[in-house]
Amino acid sequence: MILPPYKIKSVEKIKLIPVVERLKKIKKAGYNLFFLNSRDVYIDLLTDSGTGAMSDKQWSSLMQSDESYAGSESFLRFQKTIQKILGFPYVIPTHQGRGAESVFNKVLIKKDGIIIGNSPFDTTRAHIENMGGKIIDVTRKEAFDPKSLFNFKGNVDLKKLKRALKKYSAKGGSASGGKNGVTYVLLTITCNSVGGQPVSLENIKETAKLCRTHKVPLFYDIARFAENSFFIKEREIKYKNKKIEDIILETMKYADGVLMSAKKDAIANMGGFIAVRDAELYQKLAPYAILLEGFLNYGGMSGRDMETVATGLCEGIDEDYLKFRTSQVKYLTDSLYNIGVPVIRPAGGHAVFIDAGALLEHIKRDNFPAHALAVALYIEGGIRSVEIGSIMAGRDPETKENRKAPRELLRLAIPRRVYSKEHLDYVIEVFLRVLKNKKSVRGVRFTYEAPVLRHFSSKFRLI
Ligand code: F0G
Repeated sequence: MILPPYKIKSVEKIKLIPVVERLKKIKKAGYNLFFLNSRDVYIDLLTDSGTGAMSDKQWSSLMQSDESYAGSESFLRFQKTIQKILGFPYVIPTHQGRGAESVFNKVLIKKDGIIIGNSPFDTTRAHIENMGGKIIDVTRKEAFDPKSLFNFKGNVDLKKLKRALKKYSAKGGSASGGKNGVTYVLLTITCNSVGGQPVSLENIKETAKLCRTHKVPLFYDIARFAENSFFIKEREIKYKNKKIEDIILETMKYADGVLMSAKKDAIANMGGFIAVRDAELYQKLAPYAILLEGFLNYGGMSGRDMETVATGLCEGIDEDYLKFRTSQVKYLTDSLYNIGVPVIRPAGGHAVFIDAGALLEHIKRDNFPAHALAVALYIEGGIRSVEIGSIMAGRDPETKENRKAPRELLRLAIPRRVYSKEHLDYVIEVFLRVLKNKKSVRGVRFTYEAPVLRHFSSKFRLI
């Protein structure tokens, strides 16, 4: 049995409001779960981002925060921790992951520049496309095959990567690659969009080798790098006896820089950063960081935020913590699988992903089965989850056609250090009830479609 390596010091009351109330609330929210008040949610599995429980050490580190605009002590601690854990010399603070994406892509992307990656996250995609960049997805096909039990579904298909690099880097592959040259390669570790699935160190090394051959820089989105490193230790035999800290440093060694949303593996409620190896790139990024995020010693965060990120980063890479965290996700994944829910396996690092298209075959893709399931879970049990399917995939920025997601997935994200096994057992119970009446789950149709990142703010009706 893997037990939580912590005990509870502070609690927050939660309550399941009656079903008639839930029906009213979801209707009022335009059947978009982002518009529900959290007090009307019983078990909140919408996201693992900024929703973790802070530790006593994180809370007490708030007291040593220094709110100076420039030269803040808190920034120095923040910077030192990142340099030590990740090994990059230059650190630019940002208010969250999106802030890092915005500064980074503003500086790097020229119109029609090509970005190659393993299914970048939706905000990352939106920032790249907003700057005129084009994304080529080279994720391995196992990532989209629900029957595959491949251990590293976040991996890049090296043949596809090689082909794309050959095709486009001839047209000027460098950090300034516009007009269809390759601007950079981006590895998202773990890969949220395909189920919180890890990327192996072997694959990272091979990817880096190809990037070097074609003189294209390699960056990572490291929102969940600690979970990725734990999976490397657990699933890649060569690293079985290595310390998490060493796996992290080895992983980072191959990258020119990283973008981080500290709201995930740094177990902070807010924060982010860019870290790079090259002084020249830092110099290019710095003025835009000041313009878009704030001075280089806070970047949109308060001193308190930087303290909690610094302390949280150290806690987030603790092996006992990671063992329990990933075991919780595995428990829910395997339990749902055992009652007949089509889930993506092996379990990812931060969430359970359900193939709602396969579960609710009576709902057409255009009526968004995964979103329909999210609505049903809220009505049945007050559980909040999120669609990772064709609503989130949005429209092609040029043709304006609806993009079809490879699978209509529903995500149950597990916040860090928040819920107990009993809460997860309750989720399983609610699923059993939904399964019994699955034919009665209704699809949805847009009543308002937001122009960008439409899953966040569109409205729907049931059909
Ligand atoms: N990259 C990845 C892989 C993410 O999962 C996220 C956010 C971001 C970047 C953006 O970071 O939220 O700090 O601006 N993911 C959240 C989620 C929203 O629910 O998965 P942010």
